[in-house]
Amino acid sequence: MSAQVHIHRSAELAASAAARRFIEIGSIAIERRGRFCAALSGGTTPIRMYEILAGSELSGNANHGGLRWESVHIFFADERCVPPDHADSNYALMRRCLLDRIDIPECHIHRIKGEWVPGELAANDYALMLREFFGAGDAGPPNAPTFDLVLLGVGEDGHVASLFPGSAALMEDRRWAMRTQAPEGVAQRDRITLTLPVINAARQVMFLVTGAKKLSIVRPLLAGSGDPRWPAAMVTCAGATEWHVDEAAAGSAE
Ligand code: 6PG
Repeated sequence: MSAQVHIHRSAELAASAAARRFIEIGSIAIERRGRFCAALSGGTTPIRMYEILAGSELSGNANHGGLRWESVHIFFADERCVPPDHADSNYALMRRCLLDRIDIPECHIHRIKGEWVPGELAANDYALMLREFFGAGDAGPPNAPTFDLVLLGVGEDGHVASLFPGSAALMEDRRWAMRTQAPEGVAQRDRITLTLPVINAARQVMFLVTGAKKLSIVRPLLAGSGDPRWPAAMVTCAGATEWHVDEAAAGSAE
């Protein structure tokens, strides 16, 4: 299925469009299946989207265009191997920008235990939790959980979640979550990530990418001429894929 690409004039507009779509996709999932299961990414780009989601203009009252947060389950596309209150923790970031500001039941927040050592333990624990949550009878492909939405950013090297170019984890076809390592020079190299079969089994993948630094990666990806070894190029979601990018990242791709 081909991707829908939305190019927005600014990063702010991209963030609010992505937030609006999050609410639309979530509301439809809740209406159809009684719950909305979303795996979210960290990094800097989605912060504004999370803040907008937490803001009163979009969340809150379901009758006024908001999302019924009591039916939402939040998962994580990846995590750094740090304690949950660490400045680099994706969980801490999401708590601050979104989770502490909405009415979501605590038991609907399914974090990766980045503080567990070794990281393999945390990856296995996360995979086990996914297995228990989604159950063997979930409607998706037999061996992967079916998230209603996976939200991804893209790194300047083409990574998504914590799947980095050249990583053996890109070949994984059995495990749902793995410990990986970011390349040298990247802060917090030890990571836990969902694997490609899980990301690709989602009902919907949404990319949110902004800023001129991403131009050399986003432009070829949108034109279909990206390096097939870039993890972002390996995201071939079974469901729908949509991109929200700003003009700085898209360049002349319009
Ligand atoms: C993370 C992410 C990662 C991120 C990209 C883009 O935890 O860091 O899940 O995959 O989305 O690195 O990050 P920026 O939005 O900061 O550019």
